[in-house]
Amino acid sequence: MAIVSHFQLILLLSLCTLLFKSCSWSPERVSDYERWVSWNVANYQKRTVKEAESLVQTPGSSGTVLDLKLRNAEMNRVRKSVSQDGTGDFKTIKEALDSIPLHNIKRVILDIKPGVYREKIIVPRTLPFVTFLGNSSDPPTITGNDTASATGRNGMPLKTFQSATVAVDANYFVAINVKFENTAPHEIGSVGGQAVALRISGTKAAFYNCSFYGAQDTLYDHKGLHYFNNCFIQGSVDFIFGYGRSLYEVQNCNLNSIAKKVASLTAQKRTNSSLESGFSFKDNVVTGSGTVFLGRAWGDYSRVVFSYTFLDKLVLPQGWSNWGNHKRASSVYYGEYKCTGPGANLTGRVGWARVLTDEEAKPFIGTYYVEGDTWLISPYQI
Ligand SMILES: *[C@@H]1O[C@H](CO)[C@@H](O)[C@H](O)[C@H]1NC(C)=O
Ligand SMILES: *[C@@H]1O[C@H](CO)[C@@H](O)[C@H](O)[C@H]1NC(C)=O
Ligand SMILES: *[C@@H]1O[C@H](CO)[C@@H](O)[C@H](O)[C@H]1NC(C)=O
Ligand SMILES: *[C@@H]1O[C@H](CO)[C@@H](O)[C@H](O)[C@H]1NC(C)=O
Ligand SMILES: *[C@@H]1O[C@H](CO)[C@@H](O)[C@H](O)[C@H]1NC(C)=O
Repeated sequence: MAIVSHFQLILLLSLCTLLFKSCSWSPERVSDYERWVSWNVANYQKRTVKEAESLVQTPGSSGTVLDLKLRNAEMNRVRKSVSQDGTGDFKTIKEALDSIPLHNIKRVILDIKPGVYREKIIVPRTLPFVTFLGNSSDPPTITGNDTASATGRNGMPLKTFQSATVAVDANYFVAINVKFENTAPHEIGSVGGQAVALRISGTKAAFYNCSFYGAQDTLYDHKGLHYFNNCFIQGSVDFIFGYGRSLYEVQNCNLNSIAKKVASLTAQKRTNSSLESGFSFKDNVVTGSGTVFLGRAWGDYSRVVFSYTFLDKLVLPQGWSNWGNHKRASSVYYGEYKCTGPGANLTGRVGWARVLTDEEAKPFIGTYYVEGDTWLISPYQI
């Protein structure tokens, strides 16, 4: 995104699930974790029942069963380990990816041992069903520092799209316990400072217990159906952006800002009304200093919903920005539902912000928003 910012901002957004009590990101928050586990277990049991039922259903007769390609991939799992000390099958993630045959049809689980992997990674379209699995007590870090203005191999600037430390073009990608990082600093007033930690362009991708660290444009939620659970995001300046259709099922959303001017948490790019895209944030906590909009309209039909979220005082009373384009006020879809906290006071909201009714909120507040029943798998099944 071509954004020149004149302010300094660090936003922390940590994502968990379901109910929340505090905003601190700490692994020892046992009760939240237990809730999370029981949620997963319940979900898994529900799915197991559904899978059993699906055996007596005609394929395609129901939208509530794992799709066939995925089911086949999960039944044929392959494991490979990556360890920098040479004790695994591979020393780098890239080597492990290169070992996977093109047009892969099996779930390939890369067990990535703790360490800092300074690698620029692209998971190409031809490698679906790849899982990056880290260790929850010591997650591997995949790090880089490319920016939009850095020079690529062809001598041209990389641009935002290619600045990503990890780019996923493949479908059915899963990451568990992995830290994605772009360490390029955000320099006030600089041009081309966009520095993506992760770009996800494949559909049906899930991220559990992951963290995303960057400064400007951290998470490029480019396109497709995506699910984020129990993750942590840090960034600045439109740090979640793109036209994905994504559910951030989130808790303990810790948005720490040192903004001197105004920033935006999201820049959702739905460009026409027939696109099924939009970001849904459920069970967040948004905190920090500085001031932020919940979203600003990158596309005419930009769609973002925050539900059951604690919004601290850094959220501007106006709530939402039309990005200087008045026409967009009538076409964007910016909704809030059952949010709490000082930033959820609707008194100063722009006239075109929506307070959703139960019925309006419903499509956004379950995994069905991302058609999860057909492709989400419990991370504990892996
Ligand atoms: C995770 O890391 C911890 C600490 O380094 C180690 O004790 C444990 O065995 C690891 N777990 C797995 C599954 O590798
Ligand atoms: C990016 O990282 C490399 C390797 O650590 C380092 O040499 C380089 O100076 C860094 N570039 C910037 C702009 O920080
Ligand atoms: C909406 O955008 C999509 C993707 O760019 C395009 O295929 C479609 O034709 C557009 N529809 C309209 C009504 O403009
Ligand atoms: C909401 O904001 C308005 C205007 O600042 C203020 O008068 C009102 O007391 C606030 N409501 C709550 C519940 O804090
Ligand atoms: C997520 O992180 C928690 C806390 O570190 C850990 O106990 C749990 O096993 C992790 N989940 C998965 C799926 O690895």
